[in-house]
Amino acid sequence: MIKKVAILANGGDVSGFNAVIRAIVKTAESNNIECYGFIDGYRGLLKNDYIKLSSSDTASGILQKGGSIISSSTNANVFNYKVVDENGNVEYKDLSEQCVKNVKEDGFDCIFTLGGDSTQKSARDLSLKGIKVIGVPKTIDNDVACTDITFGYNTAVSVATEALDRLHTTAETHHRIMVLEVMGREAGWIALESAIAGGADVALIPEIPYDIEKAAEAIKQRQKIGKNFSIVVVSEGAFPKGGNMSVLNERNNGKGVINVQLGGVGEKVAKQLEELTGLTARCTVLGYMQRGGTPTAYDRVLSTKYGSKAMELALEEKFNVLTVLKNGKLDCVPLEEVIGNNKEIGAVQGGTKESNVRVVTMEDDLVKTAKNIGINLGN
Ligand code: F6P
Repeated sequence: MIKKVAILANGGDVSGFNAVIRAIVKTAESNNIECYGFIDGYRGLLKNDYIKLSSSDTASGILQKGGSIISSSTNANVFNYKVVDENGNVEYKDLSEQCVKNVKEDGFDCIFTLGGDSTQKSARDLSLKGIKVIGVPKTIDNDVACTDITFGYNTAVSVATEALDRLHTTAETHHRIMVLEVMGREAGWIALESAIAGGADVALIPEIPYDIEKAAEAIKQRQKIGKNFSIVVVSEGAFPKGGNMSVLNERNNGKGVINVQLGGVGEKVAKQLEELTGLTARCTVLGYMQRGGTPTAYDRVLSTKYGSKAMELALEEKFNVLTVLKNGKLDCVPLEEVIGNNKEIGAVQGGTKESNVRVVTMEDDLVKTAKNIGINLGN
């Protein structure tokens, strides 16, 4: 019988973190289980820094709040942790044994790991050391393997769609090409879905290296029928045929975390399209707007379903799994299946080579839909 559980939120923030936390806490309380939250994701697990979560106190009134009440960390891989000594010397250490010790000493029967592929990889690796974990798939990029959808994604698409609606105004009024750069490192889900929702004319995604001439051609075709404006959505991870992703910054926070900050492809695309079409082009980078603030109703419900299912799985003692949605039904899959061994799918500079990232395939309904309604995909 489980008695005491803890949650950690890890990776970039998304709208819905708190809704998952709330659902786990409430379901735990309904079953007389104590619930705690590690502060700053895996960093809290390492430092043994946690708080008690209760629906009447620390976890009250959080359903609609953005961010995470227990914070999150984007650069803490306990298996390759960046340690800086007093002289500024940097070392990368495997500190996972300390995490195992903390969990065992404090008697946590299960750790819920809310995060994307690198978070779940660490969860899988901790499970191999005897820690009982249950993952919940998070990321605005929607690229976690084995699930139809991650929490946070729907809110990101909604924000991007609203941005496109607003950009339409300037595009039409000033006869311009308006380029919107959205997040999506290795997967173009946000770009593709918001392009369809926001009536875009071109969508460039990492899965289809683009030919800018083809995108320009589509815009020129519109000009021929009197449409002197166009809307273009670009994933931050999109890159030209034979070219590379646009990198803003690089850092070294150890293996298994994001060390490459992407950005700049939107500006490049805007400049090239301006030259090729003769229309003025402007770029807007949506950035962290997609990750913050109130979750959509869909994300609140999805996050609540995920949280309550995760706690149910703990009650059934089904550990070392990821809570997923498959064909609309809640389910779970072994973390081993989610992460795999050294699967190189979607590996990019600085990314987690071991990850099994779920990217857009050419057979996906979204791709077919986009093509059918004349959205140019840069090919
Ligand atoms: O992985 C989610 C994500 O939002 C990516 O789309 C983006 O590239 C990255 O996080 C940015 O993370 P950071 O918080 O490190 O800037």
